Amino acid sequence: MFFYSIARINKMSVALITGAASGIGLALTTVYLEQGVSVVMVDKDESKLHFESARLSTLFPNQLLAIPCDITKSEEVAALKVRTIQYTDQIDWIYNNAGIIGSIAPVWDINIDNIRQVLEVNVLGMIHIIQAFIPLLIQQTQRSSIVNMASMYALCAGSLMSAYSMSKHAVLALSESLHFDLQRLQHPIDVSIVFPSFTDTSLLSKTTGIPNPTFHESLKSLLAHSRPAADVAHHIVQEVSQKKFYILPDKEVKGYCEERTRSIILQENPHRNNIEQLMNSLVKRK
Ligand SMILES: NC(=O)c1ccc[n+]([C@@H]2O[C@H](COP(=O)([O-])OP(=O)(O)OC[C@H]3O[C@@H](n4cnc5c(N)ncnc54)[C@H](O)[C@@H]3O)[C@@H](O)[C@H]2O)c1
Repeated sequence: MFFYSIARINKMSVALITGAASGIGLALTTVYLEQGVSVVMVDKDESKLHFESARLSTLFPNQLLAIPCDITKSEEVAALKVRTIQYTDQIDWIYNNAGIIGSIAPVWDINIDNIRQVLEVNVLGMIHIIQAFIPLLIQQTQRSSIVNMASMYALCAGSLMSAYSMSKHAVLALSESLHFDLQRLQHPIDVSIVFPSFTDTSLLSKTTGIPNPTFHESLKSLLAHSRPAADVAHHIVQEVSQKKFYILPDKEVKGYCEERTRSIILQENPHRNNIEQLMNSLVKRK
């Protein structure tokens, strides 16, 4: 186990970010480090975390701590909490960003263990972090924020994405419930939930159950040509600083949400939005 850190920090603001070794989490880490915020980088992928934290600690010395942790394992999350408290008295932001996409296939073709794994990481892992750290945040005198990473797939569902979409819908319900409970008990913690559209990250490299390789390559290429993670991270940090609850970094996601809601209210069939049309056209390509 490795750590890049100063022994202990006193005055700096602190962000704890899960899934910080890659993609949006790594971009969020960089944005906060650039702002002079200290970051606790958390990731399951030890070698990537080691590489990225070593690189960043040369650019931002004494500003980060890297802790390998699989958020699906409660004992590892408990150890993460102990190590974090040794490092800092306060946490200003917790980003529940770690996530996986799982199998991209019709629900009847996805191995149940794969669905379970997606829910374990995207939902139960998030709950482990919330349950471990909420008591600390409640005790703090200054306000703090919990930011949960959902996806546009929390606001609509579509072909081949049942496991991922179910998990992100659960993140939406979890975040709204968390918000209401914290408000009711007047705890000094704000909640945000983020619904990004396609972002250029390595999320798809861990995909399993690929219906056809051409489709997977097309989808990977779509991601590679989508919005850079740094852009999305800047947008998120800005909106979180304004204490927004619902954060939609991409305009088209507002449309998907509206169309879906209208279909429900009018009791029509689910709306076939642009993402669904795009996925269909990618699947058809041979
Ligand atoms: N890339 C997109 O298009 C997109 C769109 C919407 C939402 N999101 C969401 O953004 C978040 C970040 O994804 P990304 O696109 O940056 O993907 P990514 O694969 O680049 O990064 C995810 C990180 O999470 C880590 N991780 C996975 N399981 C973990 C576990 N059990 N414990 C700790 N760390 C774990 C991975 O090692 C990886 O470093 C995810 O929640 C994802 O669902 C991504």
